[in-house]
Amino acid sequence: MSVVCGCFEVTEETIREAVRNGATTVEAVGDKTQAGTGCGGCVGRIQEIIDEEAK
Ligand code: FES
Repeated sequence: MSVVCGCFEVTEETIREAVRNGATTVEAVGDKTQAGTGCGGCVGRIQEIIDEEAK
């Protein structure tokens, strides 16, 4: 399983799960998983995952 957010070692699957459970913005994913709340370098990838899950 690939780590999307290296700052907090949050995996892609953890982020997808959060999105499926209602975290449909980068901010909401950050609240639930901490992903994106450190250096911010993974925010673009988090948005991509949100967009993919929205399809
Ligand atoms: S890699 Fe996600 S906040 Fe730094």
